[in-house]
Amino acid sequence: MAMTQPTASREAMKDVHIAVLGAGKMGGILLDAFLANNLLRPDQIAATVRHAERARSLDDRWGVPVGTDNLAAARSADVLLLAVKPVQIADLVEEIRPALHPGKILISLAASVRTRTIEESAGCDLPVVRAMPNTPATVAEGMTALCGGRFAGAGALALATSMFATVGRTVVLDEKHMDAVTGLSGSGPAFLYIIIEALAEAGVNVGLPRDVATLLAAQTTLGSAKMVLETGAHPALLKDAVTTPAGCTVDGILELEEGGLRVTLIKAVKRSTQRARKLANS
Ligand SMILES: NC(=O)c1ccc[n+]([C@@H]2O[C@H](COP(=O)([O-])OP(=O)(O)OC[C@H]3O[C@@H](n4cnc5c(N)ncnc54)[C@H](OP(=O)(O)O)[C@@H]3O)[C@@H](O)[C@H]2O)c1
Repeated sequence: MAMTQPTASREAMKDVHIAVLGAGKMGGILLDAFLANNLLRPDQIAATVRHAERARSLDDRWGVPVGTDNLAAARSADVLLLAVKPVQIADLVEEIRPALHPGKILISLAASVRTRTIEESAGCDLPVVRAMPNTPATVAEGMTALCGGRFAGAGALALATSMFATVGRTVVLDEKHMDAVTGLSGSGPAFLYIIIEALAEAGVNVGLPRDVATLLAAQTTLGSAKMVLETGAHPALLKDAVTTPAGCTVDGILELEEGGLRVTLIKAVKRSTQRARKLANS
């Protein structure tokens, strides 16, 4: 896993102009993060949305121009972040096509849409990077997987990686893994919120005040994730270390196994991955 140093990123980005085309939930999270981390100055950014009234309401939020003219925004930038819904990508690329040439970099956040599809819509041999971030990018604990298209060299991938490194961890993968990434780390926060919510509910059930139960559940999830990342130990070994013979944890684990938590999570990621394969067409 590659973590890029923020200062190195800032240096690499100091003259780069970016257009966020589709500044909705994910585009907005990234815009917030790039500005908050001083990766980019407001004068380096332009953004678009579909509705003019929403554009007007966003003008003050970031201090960057927000409009509805994708072609003008695309012309003004070196790096174009495509952050519309998967099914809207083809039309968007068609719209900005007159602004595209091999000197620009397209970074698509869209689940399911292949780099080859974007390259073909673009009509020129420009670097296309596909990125799959997730919403914990809001608190700089995101997980972003990236892959490069046919014309994306090391420079384009490094630049995209350095952008997403400001909002968490990054990993560069082969494109064949991107739908699985969508199913695991793209959808994963929703699965984990349900687990945290259920643990908190359980805490309330055994007598804890709700705010304390939520704190215990969330910090325990965070701490456990950190243990996996920082020790490098297999999660099963870490679980064994908590599970003393004839203790209380093993009784709880028996309930989890009987309830099918493990199989349910595996099925959830599989279903989400299968859906991710089809999003571009629906
Ligand atoms: N949400 C996630 O957790 C997540 C994670 C990873 C990747 N993604 C990817 O990120 C992309 C956006 O998802 P989202 O959840 O951020 O969706 P969203 O909140 O609906 O944002 C989409 C944005 O695109 C704008 N838009 C639509 N058509 C446009 C057009 N023709 N020109 C300019 N802007 C246009 C919309 O404008 P209005 O506001 O005016 O309607 C909206 O602001 C998707 O491709 C998704 O696969 C999302």
